[in-house]
Amino acid sequence: MNIQEAWAYGRLQLAHASSFPDLDARLLLEYLLQVGHSFLVAYGEKDLTLEQELGYRQFIQRAKQKEPIPYITGMAQFYGLDICVNPSVLIPRPETEQLVECALAWAKSRQPLQAVDVGTGSGCIAVCLAKHLPRAGIFATDISSEALEVARKNAAQYVPGRVGFYEGNLLTPFPAEADLIIANLPYVSRDEWTMVDDGVKWYEPTIALIGGSDGLDLISELLQQAMSKLRPGGAIFLEVGWQQGQAVVQLARKRFPSADVALIADYAGQDRIVSICTG
Ligand SMILES: C[S@@+](CC[C@H](N)C(=O)[O-])C[C@H]1O[C@@H](n2cnc3c(N)ncnc32)[C@H](O)[C@@H]1O
Repeated sequence: MNIQEAWAYGRLQLAHASSFPDLDARLLLEYLLQVGHSFLVAYGEKDLTLEQELGYRQFIQRAKQKEPIPYITGMAQFYGLDICVNPSVLIPRPETEQLVECALAWAKSRQPLQAVDVGTGSGCIAVCLAKHLPRAGIFATDISSEALEVARKNAAQYVPGRVGFYEGNLLTPFPAEADLIIANLPYVSRDEWTMVDDGVKWYEPTIALIGGSDGLDLISELLQQAMSKLRPGGAIFLEVGWQQGQAVVQLARKRFPSADVALIADYAGQDRIVSICTG
């Protein structure tokens, strides 16, 4: 089997299992051979070794069972970085890049400052903040020790010594006050959970996804905790479910009545970020 044949085999096998069979087959082949897209195109007639062919067939079988590609390759792209992932962390999503962008736009001119990423998972948000805010103290919390292990690994690779990690419930383990609180917390409701894609439901950690019966348990608790942890003039940026914007705005106004609370739409026009600026 040569590269072209392997790619075609992968594409065909994934035709019903994936929304992007061609892309997924290619990414697995690139990962297996440790090459880029252009190599596959230029050397399409190069034969795979028997070992490579067996390895590729195994990857394709895993993807066919709906295992997300980043869990197979151990890597997900986020804000221009290759972030290490495993099944104890949520795979970073493109919409979260916009959350990072909004927070950076607020924070860049306000350095030095202290920022905390609540529910850090793979550490993707904290790592980006540390990379783009060189004069900020960056901290991150998560309730999952396994997730923190992955986050520490990513921070060590990209921003060694820059992120302080704390294990525990939301802001509780963070011993100080912060100017910036950023969080992409679990926000899937019980009803929505039944409609979530199988690949997500079967492989991604439920603790990273379900936010109680209406999806708002953790966001609501965080806002309450933030009342005593956010410095005057500080800001909170939250990623929310596309139908939760107004509900989170109400919660935020209740906790921070004099703050400027805004709903920010994603590139698809859906409300996905709530910003709460107290300054
Ligand atoms: C939706 S994931 C987000 C991960 C990462 N920040 C991202 O954007 O890809 C939510 C994270 O919150 C963590 N989490 C869930 N409940 C928590 C709690 N009570 N306190 C702190 N972290 C929590 C989960 O372990 C998970 O890593």
